[in-house]
Amino acid sequence: MTELAIIGGTGLRTLSGLEVTRRAVQQTPYGEPSCPFVYGMYCGKEVVFMARHGVAHVIPPHQVNYRANLWALKQLGIHHVISINAVGGIHPELAPGRIAFPHQIIDYTWSRPHTFFEDRMSQVTHIDFTEPYCETLRGVLIGAAEQAGLEAWPRGVYGASQGPRLETAAEIDRMARDGCDMVGMTGMPEAALARELGMCYASCAVVANWAAGRGEGPLTIGHIESTVEVGMHKVRRLLEHAIPLV
Ligand code: HPA
Repeated sequence: MTELAIIGGTGLRTLSGLEVTRRAVQQTPYGEPSCPFVYGMYCGKEVVFMARHGVAHVIPPHQVNYRANLWALKQLGIHHVISINAVGGIHPELAPGRIAFPHQIIDYTWSRPHTFFEDRMSQVTHIDFTEPYCETLRGVLIGAAEQAGLEAWPRGVYGASQGPRLETAAEIDRMARDGCDMVGMTGMPEAALARELGMCYASCAVVANWAAGRGEGPLTIGHIESTVEVGMHKVRRLLEHAIPLV
């Protein structure tokens, strides 16, 4: 049974090299997932792929139905999730084009449906989220990057911003003071929902740009998308090495 899913973000709407076997539309009590799930063989393993922003890339980060996406994957029997997230680099070493495997998160998002534990509960439920990512899967990604000869950053604090606008320079300064190394709009509540469902979840962050005020000039979406495209070549190489190890 397939138990590994890849959630693609900006720049990764399809997984080239995936030999598609079928597509599944899944309904959930939380509404519809972002797109049909694509099953296929990738590097000798059956995986499920989904595009977080929809196949046409029309769902903005604050409107992604994270609960439906994760719930549906869980219903399909998925246990491991590799999430691909475009980010802005805050740490001076996280230059555009680099990839990183965050180990911590600070959540600055608001008003996104962010938990399964609210209605129809027999008791109040809290999850442990001390380590927000699955260390085993992070270890697989770190090992795969080494095998692939990719210079990846093995740790880092991911600051999850609300979007869809990019941040102000002062917001990035505050995030840096808080300890954030990178900023992205899709890391939360996805990671927490995966934990609520008991899934093993890790992120591969692709640095698309210097965060606001850290580079030169204003940020343009065209520039972000073209850098992400370059980073995605690395992601594909990474996945080729990681998937057999999961
Ligand atoms: N900020 C937030 N999200 C992002 C960025 C950024 O600079 N780049 C890519 N995703």
